Amino acid sequence: MKILILNGSPKGEISVTMQYMKYIEKKFTKDEFIYENIAFDIKKYLKDSSLLDALMLKVEECDGVIWAFPLYYMTVCSQYQRFIELIFENNYKEYFKNKFAASFSTSIHFYDHTAHNYIQGICDDLDMKYTGDYSSKMDTMMKEANRISLERFFDNFKWCIKNNNYMEKRYQPVNRPVNTIGNYEIENKLDISNKKVLIISDSKKNDNLSKMVDMASKYLDGKLQMQNLHDLDIKGGCLGCLKCSFDYNCSYTGKDEYIEFYKEKVMKADIIIFAMNMANRLYSCKWKEYFDRSFFMTHTPSIINKQIGIFVSGPVSKTENIEEILRSYIELNNSNYIGLISDEANDTDKISQNIYRMLHKVVYSSRASYIKHETFRGIAGKKIFRDDMIGGLKGIFQADHKYYKKHGFYDFPQKNYRGRFFAFIIRIISLVPVIRANFHKGIKEQMIANYKKYL
Ligand SMILES: Cc1cc2nc3c(=O)[nH]c(=O)nc-3n(C[C@H](O)[C@H](O)[C@H](O)COP(=O)(O)O)c2cc1C
Repeated sequence: MKILILNGSPKGEISVTMQYMKYIEKKFTKDEFIYENIAFDIKKYLKDSSLLDALMLKVEECDGVIWAFPLYYMTVCSQYQRFIELIFENNYKEYFKNKFAASFSTSIHFYDHTAHNYIQGICDDLDMKYTGDYSSKMDTMMKEANRISLERFFDNFKWCIKNNNYMEKRYQPVNRPVNTIGNYEIENKLDISNKKVLIISDSKKNDNLSKMVDMASKYLDGKLQMQNLHDLDIKGGCLGCLKCSFDYNCSYTGKDEYIEFYKEKVMKADIIIFAMNMANRLYSCKWKEYFDRSFFMTHTPSIINKQIGIFVSGPVSKTENIEEILRSYIELNNSNYIGLISDEANDTDKISQNIYRMLHKVVYSSRASYIKHETFRGIAGKKIFRDDMIGGLKGIFQADHKYYKKHGFYDFPQKNYRGRFFAFIIRIISLVPVIRANFHKGIKEQMIANYKKYL
């Protein structure tokens, strides 16, 4: 069989993900593997459209496509996403239609599910025959059981192709609404004096997002900072070179405006609005580039104690992924997720009213210094970082290690000796048959006993 590997690593061939593909190639000698370094070569594809045409012929000729990528900020890297946008912008959809597809990733399993959701959605949009995903931890090839599992993944993919077996479409198409923003009248503007308020957007001239941002600025009284990402000199996406890992020193330092903007504006703001245009099933790759480049701060929370609200122009209700990713990103950074509003409502004034409500809440929460507790997203994410850091990453990510140590992130094994002692005693006394038989009788009262002194 002819298998086309669309390599989503900005590192090109020198990629962990590609080692997994090479392993499969070594094991399945009768199959032909064609590699395209999509993310690495993105600038070439953008410059020369004939390269894209040539690639489409390869898509047409192959029996199956593997979207093989490293996780970058809960999805794929911005360069790969740009390629996906190019497919739709250039009407190359037909080449992918009915082609068998699988998505494969390497990562540390931090939000790998959102990345695969995204790729599955893209396959559905391209009318591909999506067969499933495989998410490998980046260093699992060293164990035989994992190598066997990897071989089975590919065997399974081939079996699906031979037997015309694929998944039902899971995602509905996303169509863009173009609704009027309206002009919800207010009596008093929101006072933002003494607050640093920053709106970051990727709006384009006269698009709906620019109107949402304009409306927001009308509701605020005070100095507002705005940054359009298209006007910021960003030389390119994250290269995955890890130069930042010792001391947050990015290889782009001094070469473009991103780092200074991030340190001076983003990190110092009290309130941030992410104003985002959707592209296909995600925010645009311009925004993706923004997130990927923030990796110069590696795994250290860098936008702490901020109030963050999201404006989205696009059919965000059709894809849960966006809110899931953004909320997680905000929780992991110890900031307060206020919510997300969009331009989906077709009722005049509803959108501007929602903009006002969002800003009102953002400003109120900032004055009240309200940071709500994290959900599973932030808590589980931090535990993965903590464990991987202890498990070896701290050798490379030295800056994170210093921060984690200083801020008590290494909270396992737990030192809760009192709790551990009581758990031990309960386990022992519950072995006595009469205690065991009556143990659960008063358990509801026991569970609330400690709360009484506060009530
Ligand atoms: C900018 C950046 C963002 C990353 N984001 C994630 C992530 O969200 N989740 C995760 O599990 N791993 C993440 N990683 C780790 C990579 O996915 C992992 O190291 C991968 O194996 C690298 O593969 P490659 O060598 O093929 O590029 C990130 C790495 C970088 C450099």
